[in-house]
Amino acid sequence: MTPTHQGGDRREDMTQIQCNRRDESAAMKPRMFRRLWFLVVLCVQLKITHCGVYPEPDQSLRVPPGWSPAEHLPSSDSVILTFALKQQNVKKLEELLYRVSDPGSPDYGRFLSLEELRSLVQPSEDTLRTVRTWLEKHGVVNCDGIATRDFLQCQMDARTAEKLLPGARLIRYVKEEQSVVRSASPYSLNPEVASHIDFVGGLHRFPPDRRLRRQEKDGTTAEFHLGVTPSVLRQRYNLSASDIGAHPNNSQACAQFLEQYFHPADLSEFMSLFGKSFEHRVEVDHVIGQQGGGRAGLEASLDVEYIMSTGANISTWVFSNPGRHESQEPFLDWMLLLSNLSSLPWVHTISYGDDEDSLSVAFMQRINIEFMKAGARGLTILFASGDDGAGCRQISKDKNVFRPSFPASSPYVTTVGGTSFKNPFQVTDEVTDYISGGGFSNVFPMPDYQVSAVSKYFTSSVKMPPGSYYNRSGRAYPDVAALSDNYWVVTNRVPIPWVSGTSASTPVFGGILSLINDQRKKRGLSTLGFLNPALYRLGGATDALFDVTEGCHLSCFDDLVLAQGFCAAPSWDPVTGWGTPNYPELLKSLL
Ligand SMILES: *[C@@H]1O[C@H](CO)[C@@H](O)[C@H](O)[C@H]1NC(C)=O
Ligand SMILES: *[C@@H]1O[C@H](CO)[C@@H](O)[C@H](O)[C@H]1NC(C)=O
Ligand SMILES: *[C@@H]1O[C@H](CO)[C@@H](O)[C@H](O)[C@H]1NC(C)=O
Ligand SMILES: *[C@@H]1O[C@H](CO)[C@@H](O)[C@H](O)[C@H]1NC(C)=O
Ligand SMILES: *[C@@H]1O[C@H](CO)[C@@H](O)[C@H](O)[C@H]1NC(C)=O
Repeated sequence: MTPTHQGGDRREDMTQIQCNRRDESAAMKPRMFRRLWFLVVLCVQLKITHCGVYPEPDQSLRVPPGWSPAEHLPSSDSVILTFALKQQNVKKLEELLYRVSDPGSPDYGRFLSLEELRSLVQPSEDTLRTVRTWLEKHGVVNCDGIATRDFLQCQMDARTAEKLLPGARLIRYVKEEQSVVRSASPYSLNPEVASHIDFVGGLHRFPPDRRLRRQEKDGTTAEFHLGVTPSVLRQRYNLSASDIGAHPNNSQACAQFLEQYFHPADLSEFMSLFGKSFEHRVEVDHVIGQQGGGRAGLEASLDVEYIMSTGANISTWVFSNPGRHESQEPFLDWMLLLSNLSSLPWVHTISYGDDEDSLSVAFMQRINIEFMKAGARGLTILFASGDDGAGCRQISKDKNVFRPSFPASSPYVTTVGGTSFKNPFQVTDEVTDYISGGGFSNVFPMPDYQVSAVSKYFTSSVKMPPGSYYNRSGRAYPDVAALSDNYWVVTNRVPIPWVSGTSASTPVFGGILSLINDQRKKRGLSTLGFLNPALYRLGGATDALFDVTEGCHLSCFDDLVLAQGFCAAPSWDPVTGWGTPNYPELLKSLL
């Protein structure tokens, strides 16, 4: 037997050479030791890649259009990497999420505090110690944790990062005035730590680049065209002048990651033009993250102006580009922020999305856990369903498939699709906006809460695209919808018409849920939290949502589907979900 203290030292050495997962007791024996050494040398010489573990082998390395490599990062340049540490009790967290979100459960609304959440999910001491030791061994000591202890964000120089994560090659990419640092090749983890880390953020995934549509419609001028304004929305969704927030502890937020800013002056200008018929606020209460000084962005202006028009007189926060270091991922940083703030708005609307097939499963699964954590605390998270209909991806020379988007396809968020007025000159019934994102996940199985709604769609719908284009067993989205076409937005002091996209419908629906939270709080009830179990339980049996039954959305421009994806149908459908809000009835159903 080796004395324990020496054994301890030995084990430290061993970890360096455990490239093929021999068990440690064998490695303690000197002869085995030599043989292992030989293997290591072989590994290195032949560059046998499985010496390390690749946490995200399926992550796309594609550089999006517009970005080009400028240089291999100089050794002394610093990067910030985000380590997603393996959590405990994930299964329990999921069970708890469904118990607290299902109105039929005795635990409905019994949400966790951030402190309670930490006790449930924080990584084991073994995980924390192993990762810390590994980082320190590489001289990485400048790290920040978060309240739930399941992420570590560390600053280090470029060469250290490349040694820490064999395979990574850090490149500075530029696009106009922006620059980011990303790895041109996949990174690996030493097997010693691989089982303790879900993925490392800051190496892949370029900043999002989704833009609203703005198009002048032929033959009409803005004055004659109706255009969507707060009063049009409030009329259509049956909000009376007294349907505004009044509870002092209610709050809502929008988050966007497009390096855009809103101008407080645009918001007040917007409200003075369009907010005459209802009481509202004209200021955002908190801006989290940096607000640049430049020109206001259309998307940022839209989010704030509309969440504050339906969720009128409710305290509003804006999450604006948290994390602006070249190597950070803004969306991931927003997720970390949620787990590092004990007091947060109750409703969050976000218009970020990426093609599901461009993201690693490890990344998406971990983001799903982050959504479960938010739901367990009583937060409602809404994502735009995207602006490409069913989407399209060419998988071989003459085979296309639809292309779902994430987080829209996450089973743990509520996804909002888009509609237009049937008659663009009047406040009428709504039809599908052909851009409304929707479809079926290829990664996440269909959650129980929607099985019966979706099977009903399959059995009753006649105009279905061929089954080879999508995955019937996946999570189906969107869950709901709202108008997404022809909005008026004030940006840089100028009112702009014809702004369209599901990033318009999302804050509109979010504001309406905030009004419902207000009424629930007034009655001493919990907030809505993760909405889907309650939403699908309503099952379209009430008038809570206006059912959208007309129109189809876009998909592949090929001979087989001729650009047509799914079509709206009575009750739930994968284009407009359950439909658009009828506030008084929706309130009644959710009280
Ligand atoms: C989380 O919050 C704490 C306390 O406010 C702060 O010190 C820490 O830097 C934050 N973590 C990150 C990753 O920003
Ligand atoms: C809501 O709006 C619809 C159509 O705009 C209308 O028919 C209905 O009576 C309104 N009120 C309620 C409580 O549903
Ligand atoms: C607006 O909300 C505040 C609480 O945040 C409340 O005190 C006030 O009465 C509300 N205004 C109106 C007109 O209801
Ligand atoms: C608002 O929240 C504070 C702090 O949690 C609490 O003390 C207060 O009673 C709440 N106010 C109302 C009206 O619920
Ligand atoms: C369909 O979805 C399931 C999970 O819902 C997944 O296991 C399967 O691989 C998917 N099939 C394709 C062809 O993407």
